[in-house]
Amino acid sequence: QLKAVIFDLDGVITDTAEYHFIAWKQLAEELGITFDRTFNEQLKGVSRMESLERILALGGQTERYTAAEKEALAHKKNEHYKQLIARMTPNDLLPGILDLLRELKRENVKIGLASASKNAFTVIERLQIGEYFDTIVDAAKIKHSKPHPEIFLTAAKQLQVDPSACVGVEDAQAGVAAIQAANMFAIGVGDKEALKEADYIVETTAELTYDAIVRAFYRE
Ligand code: G6P
Ligand code: MG
Repeated sequence: QLKAVIFDLDGVITDTAEYHFIAWKQLAEELGITFDRTFNEQLKGVSRMESLERILALGGQTERYTAAEKEALAHKKNEHYKQLIARMTPNDLLPGILDLLRELKRENVKIGLASASKNAFTVIERLQIGEYFDTIVDAAKIKHSKPHPEIFLTAAKQLQVDPSACVGVEDAQAGVAAIQAANMFAIGVGDKEALKEADYIVETTAELTYDAIVRAFYRE
């Protein structure tokens, strides 16, 4: 029985996946490393420091910086990212998300947030949707990046719901893998090819209605 829906944030509830991309791309270019959207798929859902490591590895620069320098680079990216999210408003919710949150509430389905972003609380506040969430996992307390299931399992635990009664919603390959490793039903939002491992895929959040989720969940 469906008891909870656990959402990723960036790229699912709002288009901050694009802001992360812009901020990383700028930093990478300053370091003389270029990357495209295909490579960026691998950064989605991945923590700040691990994202930096992957970018440095792409540029063959893994050994170039000390730990302190890496901290400074990650900080710089985050300052840029914070500038980008500072202007967000409730208008930045992706299509259909607010209706979905309302409908889940009406149907007594619990709502959780499982974002690896330390900026998640700020983004939720800017979007003014905090009241809908029964739980928000604190990314700072999570040890293992997606695709490890830790963050989704933590959300389920905080909601006191068995993972098998949870649906996870993700735009990232690593996120879909994390949901499945947690033994939850994985819904992918975005490119059908990139997210082909998901149990159910929608191309945009506009298709993500309560009815569609219920139908997909019970078909399994
Ligand atoms: C999410 C995003 C990633 C981001 C990570 C850490 O998982 O999909 O792109 O790198 O959060 O975000 P933060 O705001 O803590 O740097
Ligand atoms: Mg995401």
